[in-house]
Amino acid sequence: MIRRALLSDIPALTAIENRCFAADRIAPRSFRYLLTRANAAVVVEERRGSIRGYAAVLFYRTTPLARLYSIAVDPEWRGRAIGRALILQAEHIAASRKARRLRLEVRVDNRRARAMYRKRGYRQFAVACGYYEDRTDALRLEKTLRRHTRGPMMGLANRKPPHRAGWE
Ligand SMILES: CC(C)(COP(=O)(O)OP(=O)(O)OC[C@H]1O[C@@H](n2cnc3c(N)ncnc32)[C@H](O)[C@@H]1OP(=O)(O)O)[C@@H](O)C(=O)NCCC(=O)NCCS
Repeated sequence: MIRRALLSDIPALTAIENRCFAADRIAPRSFRYLLTRANAAVVVEERRGSIRGYAAVLFYRTTPLARLYSIAVDPEWRGRAIGRALILQAEHIAASRKARRLRLEVRVDNRRARAMYRKRGYRQFAVACGYYEDRTDALRLEKTLRRHTRGPMMGLANRKPPHRAGWE
């Protein structure tokens, strides 16, 4: 099941982050910020009380763009369409919040994620040289969203986070 992340999920989110990324990790306090103050939506995929993956989307007050800030699936659970379900939900939330496009950055050497984005219709529009901590380049991708993109978790997309401080 995919649901909104809660503050009590932060230890599980941090554990996934540490297992999935060697650098550029989201720290617990940044997850807290995303969940409480940022203009953002964070969703988790949970099964039998275990969180297997998450996605975080940022919104901007001044442009009809949203940004897939992060997405990760625990290595043990990869290849079971969890990433696909999370990205679908992220697109649904972004479209419901009136974003016309969803943008993201991906490492040039991240073949699995690039394949997932390609399959979901993301197109490269720029390269950010030396974007990551280890100076690896990022590909900047975007997808034009359909107005009524359906997600696996219906009904939650229109719930705004409690505060709307910018994360621009
Ligand atoms: C990228 C990631 C989120 C995909 O999650 P997942 O649950 O394994 O993905 P899914 O099973 O839903 O597969 C989605 C698509 O990813 C691609 N994919 C999955 N496994 C793959 C593999 N071993 N090799 C190549 N492509 C693969 C395929 O396009 C797949 O679509 P398909 O099953 O219809 O062919 C996951 O690998 C991950 O957490 N990676 C580490 C964190 C990360 O890189 N995040 C993205 C940062 S930009």
